[in-house]
Amino acid sequence: MPPVFPTIWRLRLTATMDTLPVFEPVFERFAEAVTMFMEDRSGISDGDCDWFLEGFSRTPPERIAIVSALAAVAASRDIEAPPLEIEQLPNVDWVLENLRDFPPIAAGRFFVHGSHWLGRPPVASVAIEIDAGTAFGSGEHATTRGCLLALDSIARRGRRTRVLDLGSGSGILGIAAAKIWAARVVCTDIDPTAVKVLAGNARNNRVGARITAVVSDGYRNPAVAKARPFDLVFANILARPLCRFAPDLAAHLAPGGLAVLSGLLEWQERLVMAHHERHGLRLKRRFVIDGWATLVIGQ
Ligand SMILES: C[S@@+](CC[C@H](N)C(=O)[O-])C[C@H]1O[C@@H](n2cnc3c(N)ncnc32)[C@H](O)[C@@H]1O
Repeated sequence: MPPVFPTIWRLRLTATMDTLPVFEPVFERFAEAVTMFMEDRSGISDGDCDWFLEGFSRTPPERIAIVSALAAVAASRDIEAPPLEIEQLPNVDWVLENLRDFPPIAAGRFFVHGSHWLGRPPVASVAIEIDAGTAFGSGEHATTRGCLLALDSIARRGRRTRVLDLGSGSGILGIAAAKIWAARVVCTDIDPTAVKVLAGNARNNRVGARITAVVSDGYRNPAVAKARPFDLVFANILARPLCRFAPDLAAHLAPGGLAVLSGLLEWQERLVMAHHERHGLRLKRRFVIDGWATLVIGQ
């Protein structure tokens, strides 16, 4: 007899990067697993990304209860509740599908794989084991790959020992730096769940002692000020927040320090560079993957 897999319902809504965390707790109440991701919608005038929140449930979701919970949190923030989609997914082995969806990724010397992957990393590669959970960053997104390639090229020219990974998601970039240089790394994310996920990933990769993981909106957490100046900063967080944080970045970089900026589309490069040039930061190198640009900048 073929195996019988459980029926799964998917809840889905579209929001912005700022409003998505407002609705996440509602999905957590009504679904057993919650995930968020972004998609490029270049071609639409403001060039931002769509952010999606998805929840998966093995019991039929109660639409009315979920819609009113979304409306309540939206009203508390004075924003509009996005429309809720509920879809019953075809019966397939979701665990297997998920594993297929996250094959190992190679970028430069780095080899990123999930904990489910039982193969042997290529000889001489730096292996990073990641359980992304609901945090962004399994290594497959073009922005993360761009940052890993940038780190690989920076590492060919020398060692960096004080690193900031701003918007670290699952922690791939900070963990990568901690592994190759035995660097002290501060990882920050605005999302407390991501910070929990990255702390677990840091431990699993045996670099927990070198990584300080804190919840922070941009550079605000005192742990960031205390650890500065940084000789390498990663910020993979979309074009607008990158522009907003340009003065903070300049204030946190050590002389000779470099920053790896990502999360911007190619056509947003000039805008992002203009904000940074005002603070004395110049373009050193760029990587473009699938229309996403990763910029290495410094004084
Ligand atoms: C595109 S993901 C990058 C994750 C990871 N660094 C990578 O390269 O795979 C952006 C991350 O930045 C976080 N973020 C967004 N705005 C932020 C802010 N103002 N301060 C800190 N983190 C922020 C998000 O929660 C998300 O985890």
